[in-house]
Amino acid sequence: MKTIRNSMIAALVAGAIVPLAATAETTMRLGLITPPSHVWTKAADAFGEDLSSATEGRLKVQVFPSAQLGNEAQMIQQLQTGALDMAFVTAAELSNRVPDFGAFYAPFLADDVAHAGRIIRSEPIKGLMDQLPQAIGVVGLGIGEGGMRQIVSRPDIADATGLGGLKIRITPFEPLRDFYTALGAAPTPMPLPSVYDALANGQVDAIDMDAELIWQMKFFEKAPTVMVTNQMMFPVVGVMSGKVWAGLSDEDKAQFTELASKHLDATIDEYSKLDPEWLAQIKAAPGVNYVEPSLDSFAEAITQWDAAWSERAPFLAEIRKIADETR
Ligand code: BEZ
Repeated sequence: MKTIRNSMIAALVAGAIVPLAATAETTMRLGLITPPSHVWTKAADAFGEDLSSATEGRLKVQVFPSAQLGNEAQMIQQLQTGALDMAFVTAAELSNRVPDFGAFYAPFLADDVAHAGRIIRSEPIKGLMDQLPQAIGVVGLGIGEGGMRQIVSRPDIADATGLGGLKIRITPFEPLRDFYTALGAAPTPMPLPSVYDALANGQVDAIDMDAELIWQMKFFEKAPTVMVTNQMMFPVVGVMSGKVWAGLSDEDKAQFTELASKHLDATIDEYSKLDPEWLAQIKAAPGVNYVEPSLDSFAEAITQWDAAWSERAPFLAEIRKIADETR
């Protein structure tokens, strides 16, 4: 099977500008850090199947889950050089390079997972995606959702005051680091594949995680307190290498965008349905100390976070407006 780069190189060597639509079968590589059973990975698989049937097998997608191609920072670098064709990445990773993406992580911006979905689906988010090509050399194909963020802790904690001094694993991105720093915790950035061992061997006291993975990976067997805060949403963005995109025909560009955005968007309805079900299962699991804290204890940290990020991410004002309009 040819990769897209091989097709393009062959065209260049032949001295002709041949649009991809005219070439033979092409397989695109798509990387993610989530495991095969995860909603994002299943969306990537479904996108690949749809693309193949829409193009009668001419365009295929080979999905590499579980960080087989590297962590998200490494995948973005590969996308920039054209060594990787596509990825479904966290908006968190993008916020490390395009600060406006940090606006998604305003603490308690969304009331619940369904509200997060309405924010993500709103029209101005498309303008945010339009920053990607110029800022980092990737093209946004679509946006979807992960579940809301919760806290799993080995020490028994009842609200935000209990986080003081705790080493808490975070996804490596600055808005989340700033949130936990404001709460007096010691945020410890760590990519998803390392989290289970770090919690099991005591390298961290607590983790920031979503209900899907708390349930699937049974983190509560290593740290029994599950504090349900819904403190942040966690969007996923489908991106394609700008270099690869430039070699596509207009027809193929439309095909990739239409189908990737369709399957990413479908994750929003999935999480709206599944997030509450996973939380109910976690609550009922033996040995779980399920805590629903008063959110007052987070108030001061929210104020600090807002002060820092309203300067760094001008989109924050816009996303707050969207949140109000979609309540
Ligand atoms: C995490 O870093 O916690 C994470 C990353 C991708 C999907 C879900 C969770």
